[in-house]
Amino acid sequence: MESPQAARSIMDSPSRPLPWLPALLRLLVLLLALRPLGVLGAPAYPGLTGAWRIDVPKPFGVTVQTFLVLHQEGERLTGRVYPNGSHDIPIEGVHAEGKDILFGMEWGWNFRVRPEGANLRVVITRGDGGTENVLAVPIPEESLRPSGVLPIPAVRDLPDNGLARTPPMGWNSWNHFAEAVDDRVIRETADAMVSSGMAAAGYVYVNIDDTWEGGRDAQGNIVPNRKFPDMKALADYVHAKGLKFGLYTGPGPVTCDGYVGSYGHEEQDARTFAAWGVDYLKYDWCSAGNLYSVPQSRQVYQKMGEILGRCGRPMVFSLGASIASQSATWGAAAGANLWRTASDIQDTWKKMSLVGFEQPSLAKYAGPGHWNDPDMLEIGNGGMSAAEYRTHLSLWCLLAAPLIAGNDLRTMSAETRDILTNREVIAVDQDALGRQGIRLAARDGMELWARPLAGGATALGIFNRGEAQAAASFTWAEAGLSGRPSSGRDLWAHAGVEPADEGMRATVPAHCVVMWVVR
Ligand code: GLA
Repeated sequence: MESPQAARSIMDSPSRPLPWLPALLRLLVLLLALRPLGVLGAPAYPGLTGAWRIDVPKPFGVTVQTFLVLHQEGERLTGRVYPNGSHDIPIEGVHAEGKDILFGMEWGWNFRVRPEGANLRVVITRGDGGTENVLAVPIPEESLRPSGVLPIPAVRDLPDNGLARTPPMGWNSWNHFAEAVDDRVIRETADAMVSSGMAAAGYVYVNIDDTWEGGRDAQGNIVPNRKFPDMKALADYVHAKGLKFGLYTGPGPVTCDGYVGSYGHEEQDARTFAAWGVDYLKYDWCSAGNLYSVPQSRQVYQKMGEILGRCGRPMVFSLGASIASQSATWGAAAGANLWRTASDIQDTWKKMSLVGFEQPSLAKYAGPGHWNDPDMLEIGNGGMSAAEYRTHLSLWCLLAAPLIAGNDLRTMSAETRDILTNREVIAVDQDALGRQGIRLAARDGMELWARPLAGGATALGIFNRGEAQAAASFTWAEAGLSGRPSSGRDLWAHAGVEPADEGMRATVPAHCVVMWVVR
C-alpha cells in the first residue's frame, strides 16, 4: 500500500498527468465503505459467511454450544445449524428485517442475527418459547469437521442379555422436566412412585434423561453437573425404595442437548455407570450422526451393546432414534432391549397419534427381551384430555410398548394416576407372549386393533380418531377371530361384557377407546 508520504509527493508534483485521480479513488473507497449500509446495492446479508460458535452457559456450571455455518452469495443466504452441537440441520425461511437477518430450522428454533463487530448478535427463540440473546464468535470451519472417526466393530449378532422379558415400565425425566431435573426431583419421584401406587402397578425404573452430565475429570471419567452432587448416593436411594435406576448418554461427542457424550469413552463410562448402580441405559444417537452414517448406526450401537454385556452389571439397553424405524430390523442383534421407532413425542393429540397410529407396523421385530419403542408417555402432562390419555395408554399397551411415564408423579391428579395404573390395561402390555398388536381394520375414523395374548385370549381396542362420539361395529372375522368369543371384559369399565353374535360393537367418545379382552 502507498505510504501517505508517497501519496503526498504524487499530489504535490507540478506535472500531474491525471489531477482528478486521487479524488476519484477516495470516492470509490468511500462508496465501498458505505456498501454494507445500503448504498451501491448493498447485499441484504452482510458479513455472515463463516462458521460461528454460540456458548450458552447453564446455571449449573455447564456450557452448551450451538454452531452456525453460513454462506452468503449476494442476497442469498444458505447454511446449517448444529443445535447444541448435535444434529446438522439446514436453515430455512431466510429473510431480512431492517438490519437483522431471520431464519428458522426444523424443531421450531428461530434465529435473528446481525453483525456486531467481528461477531454476530444472535437471538434464538425455541419452539417452547424460550429465548436466548447471545453472541456468536467466528471459528475456523475446519474445527467442525471430524478429523477421522473411531473404528466400529464388524456386524455380529449379540446374545440376548436376558432382561426386559416384558416391555420395561418406569418413569423418565425428559417429557416433563427436560433440563429442570435434579437430585431432589429424582428422590421425590422415587418416593411418589411408591406412594402413588405406580410401583405396585409395575413401574420400576426411575430414569434420568439428558442434562445430568458435567464433563470429564482429569482421568477422563464422566462426572455429573452440580444438579447431581452424588450419583452413587442417588442410585442407592432409588434402590432402597425397591426401584431401579436409569441414566442417559449417547455414542456421539455430545448428547442431543449438547452435554458430554460417551464417544471414545464407551468402556470407561459403562464402568462408571455400573459402579454407580445404573440398571437401564438410554443411549441416544444425536451427534453420532455427524460422525457415522445411518447404516453404521448398527455397529455404533453394537459397540456399546458388547461393552454392557461385559461390564458386570445387567443394564436394560435402550436405543435412541437414528433414523426412525430402521433400528427395529437389527436392534435386538445389536444387544438392545428397546429402540425408538419414531421422532420425539409431544403432549398433543396430533403428535401422539402420529407416533402411535401412523408408524409402519414393526410388530414382527417385537418379542420378549426386545421391543419397539414409540417413545415415552405424556399422560398427565396436561396437553391432552383424559379420553386422549386413555387412548395413549391403550394404544401403547396394544403395541407392547415400553411404559415409561413422563409426568410429574409428585403432583399428579387422581385421574392421571388412575389412568397410568389401570392394571387391566397394563396386563395387556405385560402379557407373557410378548406379541405386538396390529391394526386390523379402519372405517369412518374408527380403528380396530388386536393383540394376541398368552393362553389364547385376544386384546381388542376400538379407537375413535374422529371428532365426535360414534358407534362402531367390527365383525369377529375382522378381529381375526373364527367366531363369537364366549366371554369378554371391558378394561376401562372394569366390567364383563357379553360379546354379540355379529362382532365387537361399541359407542366410543371422540379421541377415546373401548378396550376389551375376549376369550
Ligand atoms: C432426544 C430424545 C429425547 C430426549 C432428548 C434429550 O431428542 O429423543 O427423548 O432424550 O434427546 O436431549
